[in-house]
Amino acid sequence: MKLRSGVSLWTLLVFTALLKNARAECDPERNCTADSSLRKTETTITLETEPNCNLSTGNISGNGSITGLTPGAIYQISFHCLNCCKEVTTKPEKVNNLEVIGVSTSSISLNWTKPVGNSSSYRVQWTDGTETKNDTATEEYINITNLTAGVQYTMTVTAVADDNITEGTSVNVSQYTKPEKVNDLKITGFTTSSISLNWTKPNGNSSSYRVQWTDGTETSNTSVTQTYINISNLTAGVQYTISVTAVAHDGITEGTSVNVSQFTKPEKVNNLKVTEFTTSSISLNWRKPNGNSSSYRVQWTDGTETNNTSVTQTYINISNLTAGVQYTISVTAVAHDGQTDGQSTAVYQYTSRYLNVQRTWWRSGLLL
Ligand SMILES: *[C@@H]1O[C@H](CO)[C@@H](O)[C@H](O)[C@H]1NC(C)=O
Ligand SMILES: *[C@@H]1O[C@H](CO)[C@@H](O)[C@H](O)[C@H]1NC(C)=O
Ligand SMILES: *[C@@H]1O[C@H](CO)[C@@H](O)[C@H](O)[C@H]1NC(C)=O
Ligand SMILES: *[C@@H]1O[C@H](CO)[C@@H](O)[C@H](O)[C@H]1NC(C)=O
Ligand SMILES: *[C@@H]1O[C@H](CO)[C@@H](O)[C@H](O)[C@H]1NC(C)=O
Ligand SMILES: *[C@@H]1O[C@H](CO)[C@@H](O)[C@H](O)[C@H]1NC(C)=O
Ligand SMILES: *[C@@H]1O[C@H](CO)[C@@H](O)[C@H](O)[C@H]1NC(C)=O
Ligand SMILES: *[C@@H]1O[C@H](CO)[C@@H](O)[C@H](O)[C@H]1NC(C)=O
Ligand SMILES: *[C@@H]1O[C@H](CO)[C@@H](O)[C@H](O)[C@H]1NC(C)=O
Ligand SMILES: *[C@@H]1O[C@H](CO)[C@@H](O)[C@H](O)[C@H]1NC(C)=O
Ligand SMILES: *[C@@H]1O[C@H](CO)[C@@H](O)[C@H](O)[C@H]1NC(C)=O
Ligand SMILES: *[C@@H]1O[C@H](CO)[C@@H](O)[C@H](O)[C@H]1NC(C)=O
Repeated sequence: MKLRSGVSLWTLLVFTALLKNARAECDPERNCTADSSLRKTETTITLETEPNCNLSTGNISGNGSITGLTPGAIYQISFHCLNCCKEVTTKPEKVNNLEVIGVSTSSISLNWTKPVGNSSSYRVQWTDGTETKNDTATEEYINITNLTAGVQYTMTVTAVADDNITEGTSVNVSQYTKPEKVNDLKITGFTTSSISLNWTKPNGNSSSYRVQWTDGTETSNTSVTQTYINISNLTAGVQYTISVTAVAHDGITEGTSVNVSQFTKPEKVNNLKVTEFTTSSISLNWRKPNGNSSSYRVQWTDGTETNNTSVTQTYINISNLTAGVQYTISVTAVAHDGQTDGQSTAVYQYTSRYLNVQRTWWRSGLLL
C-alpha cells in the first residue's frame, strides 16, 4: 500500500516508532510483557516466550532478542509483535580490580574500578559468616567500619545498573581485621640466660602470638599459641627488648606490638681472691664474668654491720677496717641499668691482729 506522496505506510510506522523510542515514552502503566518472560544479560535482551517477535531499540533490532547492548543501561524496547514498549535494563558488568587498601582493628577499606558499560552505584555486602550487613557506595571506594578485631570478613561488591535496581555479578574479597594489642604484658622471671613473660588475650579474636626479642643487634622470633613464654639461650647481663604481637587465624594479619625491656642477670664474677690484707684493709681482685655487666657491688660485713660500695674496675682496696676481725666480702656483677644483679661470690678474711704485720693468705681462718 502506497500513499500518494510515495512514502510507504511501513516507513511511516517505523519513523513514528523510532520517534517514540527516542522520546522514551514507554508507559510504565501499560507494561506489555512480564519481566519473567524476559532474559537479560549484560549485552542481550531476549523475549523467551516469543522467539519470532521483532524487538528493537533505537537502530538496533532482532528477532526474539537484541544483542550488542551496553551493560547496565536502560533501554526502551519496542515489542513489535505485541505492538507495545517497555523499559528494560541490562545487567551491569562485574567491577574490576577489587582490592583491600587498608585494614585496622575495626575497619577494612576497599577500592575497585568501574565496570565496562553503565552503572549508577555499588552494593557492598560483608559478612563474618554469621551476620551480614550491606551499604551502598556511589564511588569506587568504601571504608567499612565498626568491625570486630581479628575476624575474617568476606566482602562482595556488586554494580547496580542505571535503574538503581538491577544488579550484576558479585565480586568478592576476604580479609582479616587486625587483632587488638595483647594486654598486661609482664616479666614473670629472668635468669642469666632466660626471660619469662605472660600476657592476656586481646579483645576480639586472634589465634597466635609472635614474640620477638632483640639485644639491639641480633633479632629472633617465635610463634606461640599460649599466653606465656620462656625465652632461653640468652646472654647474661644483656638488655633485651621483647615484643608480643597478636596474629589472626590466617597467620599473617598482625596487630600492634606491645614491648617490654629486661636485662638478663649478669653471671657470677670469676676467681675472686684476696690479694693483700693489713690490720685495717683488705684488697681483692676478680675476673669479669661471662656475658655483660657494667659494674660490681662490693659488700663487706663483720657480722653486725654491713658496708658496701660500687666499682667499675675488677679490684678493690677496702679500708677503715678493724684489726683482727673476720670479714665476709661479696662481689656481685651489676648490669648496665645499675640495678639488675646476678649471684654473689664471697670470700672470708681476717684483718691482721698487729700493726704493720702483713700477710697474704687465701681464705685465712688462721689466727696470727
Ligand atoms: C511496569 O514495569 C515497571 C518496571 O519493570 C514496574 O515498576 C511497574 O510497576 C509495572 N507496571 C505495571 C502496571 O505492572
Ligand atoms: C546506532 O546509532 C548510534 C548513534 O545513535 C551509532 O553510534 C551506531 O553506530 C549505530 N549502530 C548501527 C548498527 O547503526
Ligand atoms: C524489526 O523491526 C524494525 C523496525 O520495525 C526493522 O527495522 C528491523 O529490520 C526488524 N528486524 C528484524 C530482524 O526483523
Ligand atoms: C586503589 O588503591 C591503590 C592503593 O592506594 C591505588 O594504587 C589504586 O590506584 C586505587 N585504585 C582505584 C581504582 O582507586
Ligand atoms: C541491606 O541492609 C538492610 C539493613 O541495613 C536490610 O534491610 C537489607 O535487606 C539489606 N539488603 C541486602 C540485599 O542484604
Ligand atoms: C576507615 O574508618 C576508620 C574509622 O572511622 C578510620 O580509623 C580509618 O582510618 C579509615 N580508613 C581509611 C583508609 O580511611
Ligand atoms: C557497631 O556495632 C555494634 C554491634 O555490632 C552496634 O550495636 C552499633 O550500633 C554499631 N555502631 C555503629 C556506629 O554502626
Ligand atoms: C537512581 O538514583 C539516583 C540517586 O539516588 C537518582 O538521581 C536517579 O534518578 C535514580 N535513577 C532511577 C532510574 O531511578
Ligand atoms: C602472669 O604471671 C604472674 C606471676 O607469675 C601471675 O600472677 C599472673 O596471674 C599471670 N598472668 C597471666 C595472665 O597468666
Ligand atoms: C643457643 O645459641 C647459640 C648461638 O647463639 C646457638 O648456636 C645454639 O644453637 C642455641 N641453642 C638453642 C637451644 O637454641
Ligand atoms: C662501715 O663504715 C663506717 C664508716 O666508714 C665504719 O665506721 C664501720 O666500721 C664500717 N663497718 C664495716 C663492717 O666495715
Ligand atoms: C674512715 O673512717 C673515718 C671515721 O669513721 C672517716 O672519717 C673516713 O672518711 C673513713 N675513710 C674511708 C676511706 O672510708
